[in-house]
Parts: sequence; C-alpha cells; structure tokens
Amino acid sequence: MTGIKPTLLSGLILISYACHAEIPVVAGDIWPDSDGLHINCHGGCVTKASDGIYYWYGEHRGTDTPQEGVACYTSTDLKNWHNRGIVMPVSDTPGSIVERGSTVERPKVIYNASTGKYVMWFHHELKGRGYEAAQVAVATADNPLGPFVPLKSSRVNAGKLPLNMIRSKTAPTYDNRTEWWTPEWYALIREGMFTYRDLAGGQMSRDMTLFVDDDSTAYHIYSSEDNLTLHIAELDSTFTSHSGRYIRIFPGGHNEAPAIFRHEGRYWMITSGCTGWAPNEARLMWADSMMGEWHQLPNPCRGEGSETTFGAQGTYILRDGDDITFMADIWNPESLPDSRYLWLPVKFDEKGIPYIYKN
Ligand code: GAL
Repeated sequence: MTGIKPTLLSGLILISYACHAEIPVVAGDIWPDSDGLHINCHGGCVTKASDGIYYWYGEHRGTDTPQEGVACYTSTDLKNWHNRGIVMPVSDTPGSIVERGSTVERPKVIYNASTGKYVMWFHHELKGRGYEAAQVAVATADNPLGPFVPLKSSRVNAGKLPLNMIRSKTAPTYDNRTEWWTPEWYALIREGMFTYRDLAGGQMSRDMTLFVDDDSTAYHIYSSEDNLTLHIAELDSTFTSHSGRYIRIFPGGHNEAPAIFRHEGRYWMITSGCTGWAPNEARLMWADSMMGEWHQLPNPCRGEGSETTFGAQGTYILRDGDDITFMADIWNPESLPDSRYLWLPVKFDEKGIPYIYKN
C-alpha cells in the first residue's frame, strides 16, 4: 500500500470546528491516518452509516502502479481516520468487470434501505484505453467495509432520450466539422448533436456524484457528451440501475467534478471547469427541483485564491446535522497519492446563497 510519510505530523490545520458535527477545516497539508501515513482517498465522499461511523471512500492512488481500487477510511469524529484498506479491489482475472489496469475515479457510496445494500458507483475507464470509454460502474456490498462486488460497467441510458430534449425530425448528425466554441457549434450542442451521437451505445459518463433525495429517490449526476454537458439521471429503486429518466443541463457548459446538496428545499450544485488536474474557478448552480430548470450563479468561492477554488477541485458536499462542508482535492499530478485535501464549510449570505470562504 502506497503511503506518504508525513514530515510534519501536526501539518493538518484544524482551523475551526463546526458546532454540531465538528467537521474539520482542512487546508492542504499532509493529513496523517492512524498509521501516520498521508490519507490516500481522493475524489471521494464521506457517508455516515447507521452505526454512527463515518466512512470515507476514495481513489487509492499509486505513483507508477495501476490502481488497486477504492479505499475506505473510517472515523468517529471526522478528524482521526483509520485505514480500512481496499474495499472495491480491481481484479486480476482477465475480462472481469473492473480489471487491473482500469482507471477508477470519483467513487460515491449510498445506502439502499429497501435492499439493505451499500451501493457504489464510480467513473470507470477500461484498461489501455485512456479516457475514451467514459463508463460508469456499479458495485454493491452488504457491509460498508465491503467487499464491493462489481455488477456492471457501461455507458448510461442507451437508447433513451433526455426528458428535456424534444426529439426533432432533423436530429443533428454528428459531423465534428463545425468549429468548436462557435455560435453554430453551441447551437448544435444544445440541439443534442452529441446526445444523438451516443444514443445507441449510451451516454458518456466521466466525473460523477450521487445524491439521495428526501423521498429516497437517488440520482447519478455526471459529465457527459465529451465533458461538455452535465446529465442528471434518476436511479431505479435498487439504486443499481438507471430508471431511464434523465435531463441534460448547461449544454456546452463544460462542467465536471459535480458536488450537490439540498438546503431548505433548494438544490445546490458546485462544479469545476474542465482543465484536467489543474485547478480552475468553481461554478454554482441551483434548482427548485432535481429534474427541473437549473440556473447558474457566479463563483461561490471567496477570499484569496478563490479564482482557482484555492488550488482544489470539488468532489463532494458532506452534510452532518446542520453543518455542510465542501470537500475538494488539491491534485498533485506528479504524485497523485500526495494530493492534498481542502475541506471548507459552506456558509450562506444574506440572500441565502451559499459561499465558501478561505482566508
Ligand atoms: C480531471 C477530473 C479528474 C481526472 C483528471 C484526469 O478533469 O476531474 O477526476 O479524471 O481530470 O486528467
């Protein structure tokens, strides 16, 4: 297991504690686990199980080696984390669903009360094919510590059109001759040129998150259409398949790293632009219904470094009681296991709009 030995054990900056859940504020230093090794759990999520324990799932990264799978750390206080190993291992059996050499990114885990299963979804790229497969995989476990067993990996909603796009008699054919980022090209994207291109085989799915609403409906939110357009796809009641209902939002908006929460009935989403491992300015969106109309607001970050999300890229929004925390990764592409973490509280201004401040 790869680990970074901390040179400074007190490097984790606990600037303040939220009053209920005591979610730590973390600002980019080495974060040692209970073995004294920097936590290796990137692009992930934190969920609290019925046992009151917090489970942090994320990408376990090696420096030059293929990924081992999805790591899990546990904590009772969100500050001190214990490494519980790889809970969704890649397989050495050729032809298996998640074969060693695959890329496994942005895992998210939700619990389905009716089946009693913990359900993990993650961005899955196939061995030797770079980022071209653009698939999502799903795995389930009876226990939050796994093992999570992969059920399938595929693109999304093959043969299904989004709810908010009318099937036109003249569906734009994919031509790629129109110059990107021109008004004509944006019009073609809006009309669904890429959606139709991928209709038969299913829609692309790269950066992703999951969200379970108060009515127990779950959603898969992902960068689709060559990372140009976000999709929000409803899951079925088992949370292991798509229901077939989905919408596209911000066509051509080039959003990734979606993270979402609900506050006082309104849905809020924070995304990044698409600049690979390099940080960029975060975006803020809202809607009054998940499958309804989404609106965009300016960058939610405030303070020095806000124009690059303080050097980070969002991965999840952790809610615990009344406390809401933006979890992000400060990627280090030279040494991904040494990527750092940025956890900052989400606050609300006088108009009720969320913001993230760092001094
Ligand atoms: C980022 C994405 C990461 C990873 C990376 C690879 O844009 O958010 O999850 O896929 O690209 O370059």
